[in-house]
Amino acid sequence: MTDDTVELEARLEEQEAFEPPEEFVEQANVSEESIYEEFEEEWPECWERAADLLDWEEGYDTVLDDSNPPFYEWFTGGSLNASANCLDRHLDERGDEAAIEWVGEPVEEENRTYTYEDLHREVNEFAAALTELGVEEDDVVTLYMPMIPELPIAMLACARIGAPHSVVFAGFSADALATRMNAADSEYLVTCDGYYRRGDGLDHLSKANEGLAGVDHDVEAAVVVERLREGDGHGHDLADNQRAYADLVAEHEGATVEPVSRDAEDMLFLMYTSGTTGQPKGVKHTTGGYLAWSAWTSRAVLDVKPEDTYFCSADIGWITGHSYIVYGPLALGTTTMMYEGTPDHPERDRLWEIIEEYEATQLYTAPTAIRAFMKWGTEYPDRHDLSSLRLLGTVGEPINPRAWKWYYKHIGDESCPVVDTWWQTETGGMMVTTLPGVKTMKPGSAGPPLPGVDARVVDTTGEEVEAGRAGYLTVNKPWPGMLRTLYRNDERYIDEYWAEYSDTDSDDPDDWVYFPEDGAKVDDDGYITVLGRVDDVINVSGHRLGTMEIESAIVGVEGVAEAAVVGGDHEVKGEAVYAYVITEDGYEGDEAMRERIVAGVEDAIGPIARPEQVVFTLELPKTRSGKIMRRLLEDIANGEDLGDTSTLRNPDVVEDIQGKVGGD
Ligand code: WT7
Repeated sequence: MTDDTVELEARLEEQEAFEPPEEFVEQANVSEESIYEEFEEEWPECWERAADLLDWEEGYDTVLDDSNPPFYEWFTGGSLNASANCLDRHLDERGDEAAIEWVGEPVEEENRTYTYEDLHREVNEFAAALTELGVEEDDVVTLYMPMIPELPIAMLACARIGAPHSVVFAGFSADALATRMNAADSEYLVTCDGYYRRGDGLDHLSKANEGLAGVDHDVEAAVVVERLREGDGHGHDLADNQRAYADLVAEHEGATVEPVSRDAEDMLFLMYTSGTTGQPKGVKHTTGGYLAWSAWTSRAVLDVKPEDTYFCSADIGWITGHSYIVYGPLALGTTTMMYEGTPDHPERDRLWEIIEEYEATQLYTAPTAIRAFMKWGTEYPDRHDLSSLRLLGTVGEPINPRAWKWYYKHIGDESCPVVDTWWQTETGGMMVTTLPGVKTMKPGSAGPPLPGVDARVVDTTGEEVEAGRAGYLTVNKPWPGMLRTLYRNDERYIDEYWAEYSDTDSDDPDDWVYFPEDGAKVDDDGYITVLGRVDDVINVSGHRLGTMEIESAIVGVEGVAEAAVVGGDHEVKGEAVYAYVITEDGYEGDEAMRERIVAGVEDAIGPIARPEQVVFTLELPKTRSGKIMRRLLEDIANGEDLGDTSTLRNPDVVEDIQGKVGGD
């Protein structure tokens, strides 16, 4: 390194605020600071601006109906179809332009471009096929698929006929699929025979079939996309009620299906997410409010324009992919990229190679990925021309300033704004982040709430905390993209998100406050730094996992008497699963047992929940009232100083456990 670069690095290392690059501001979709004030003054009518990004069949008559909080309704009286908004309305002007650029694996094989015409055609054909299979409006269709184009096609086909989809992440286990199909009473499944990871074909259908065997009601039909090539496991035998996707689409060649007119408040999809109990929560999103929210935030925050080639590296199995690979970008008529593989195959420059080849204009990814890139080193991005990039984004977990600056410098060449976007499955889209053409960026802090979003940091009584003090994040006004309820469980909806800070007997919307269950702090400029979950949910590589779910999987393993799971710090994953396990008499905490536990967790949830460490112990640290001290177990996992443990019922156990952690 020359003296100059050393100096430059040092400056960057210390710098705590960055202005939006001028060239970016000049062309930004939103570049006026006044938008914050306007939205405050015009609230809730300000959200007409989001609704105006969509084509409505029937105009709405009320922006917000808040007469029955927390069951808010947005754009009531309006009707629209999400698939028509993502496809049909772009055909005239953008029919020949790419809607989806799909980069598949294995690398030497295939990439596919779907123009808006192509996508429209196949969505229509598949919508016709779903109808023939018996799918009717409001039937929940489960999509258990990896990053192949047929996933967004199936989503849009469902949307076209008014059948809500429930996408289950392909990495989830058979049990997880069955649990979600049962919870939603879903009688239809779209899945695939397998997919590719690091060049190898993975069997997916066996897992899907095992899941189907656990479904407690009749399954009318399953559709199987044959993704694998001959020799890689292609051509599984299909059961009587299973149909090959390609056959179905061919049978409906040229079919057109009129998009069903949906009320703004009709469900567009369900998405299951982890909570504090073992039972995942079915988050319900609507057609009008959600679509307006994903389109508005894609435009304002990701600066998406029709001529862009926008790249979000998330998986569509999570909300990020729903809002920011599929619905937001397609509603805006842009080109959205999809990548089937991993960033390190065939080499650690795979993302940079793709960005260079497709001249991608935005990259939206997760801090966990950025930490991995940092570890691998700058030689990989340095091999490629990344100058097509105009904006960078992150989502899913806090990003530390060092990783932020690395991303800004080595990927963005100090000329792209970085947006650190805080939101969650339940919010439908971004809530707290800088507007990239307006706001100063502060690495490590997500930023102020978006215009029209009333997010605050409060203490346990709901009073706003002073700048610099830690508190809890709340959202004090409803917003169009919000979840409407938990599927078939209004009570749990209130309990989980509202009860903490609301007067639940009141009909006055001012008495209702949404609690996302995150800790946060705020600075003098109103910038919010999100500190992490305050419930028993851990965040592994940006994926939310309930500790209870993992614990019940472990307790289900033969020979396990009790288990406690916590998140310990992890350099790349953010958090990793630490499991403290007590065995039953006659069982030993040996390697075989450890393997059974890991396998048990993989079977119940999936490999993402695999414990990093399994610590066998004779007792768990408990309070005098018998509550497991999770905080203490976390501190042990992180090798932190434990302070006074004498108030425990069993202080001796602490040292014993401490001695067993680490090693691996
Ligand atoms: C939880 C939501 C949002 C889509 C992906 C995850 C954490 C999310 C940030 C951020 C700090 C963040 C929160 C949140 N989180 N974004 N920019 N800074 N924390 O969706 O699975 O619903 O998880 O992820 O803890 O509550 P999710």
